[in-house]
Amino acid sequence: MRMPLHAGHRNLPGMFSGRRSRFYDFAARRLLRPFYRRLADDVAATAPQGGAVLDVGTGPGVLLVEVAKRRPDLALAGIDLSADMVAVAGRNLGTRADVQVADVRVADVADLPFPDGSFDLVVSSLSVHHWDDPGAAVPELARVLRPGGRFVVYDFRFAPFDELAAAARAGSLFTGQPPQRSLIRTGVLLHPRCVRYVMTAR
Ligand SMILES: C[S@@+](CC[C@H](N)C(=O)[O-])C[C@H]1O[C@@H](n2cnc3c(N)ncnc32)[C@H](O)[C@@H]1O
Repeated sequence: MRMPLHAGHRNLPGMFSGRRSRFYDFAARRLLRPFYRRLADDVAATAPQGGAVLDVGTGPGVLLVEVAKRRPDLALAGIDLSADMVAVAGRNLGTRADVQVADVRVADVADLPFPDGSFDLVVSSLSVHHWDDPGAAVPELARVLRPGGRFVVYDFRFAPFDELAAAARAGSLFTGQPPQRSLIRTGVLLHPRCVRYVMTAR
């Protein structure tokens, strides 16, 4: 089921730029912090020692901040279509003494500015349902992952998971095994659970 806010939309550039990016940042840091802590626990448990992790559609980078606090051994990167969000993420990651620097850039998930096999883990929270063309992102996600690396999505039930799986099948990308899908608790009253969806690279 799509929420009314998302009906008929994919990417909503106006929603993630200018003043709205600052409002989103406030909400992410102050209201949704339990959610990012929960996801960061999961990312911290999934990433290999000394690994490289990319957060796609990182927004204000709050997930990266929480991951950095838990796993200082990881090399962290983030991309987002919105330059304003990337600026906010840079501030959130750059102003904390307890958080190591992360490489955060403006980019589209369908055209990632990284060499093949750059990452052990690619994650994405609440972003996939905004992508204009999830199918076009799948070859890029598979390309930047190392063999055996994982793409882990945390998103609402209405996110286009089937489009991701169909593109992977069509391109013989990822392992060809059915992605692992489970529900995880968010710690947020309004949305007590979200989907955790995992695809593994060949
Ligand atoms: C709802 S926000 C989620 C931000 C963050 N991951 C979080 O959990 O708070 C969705 C983000 O996805 C980004 N986005 C949408 N389409 C994208 C694309 N094609 N490539 C990269 N980022 C995209 C938006 O700019 C926005 O910052």
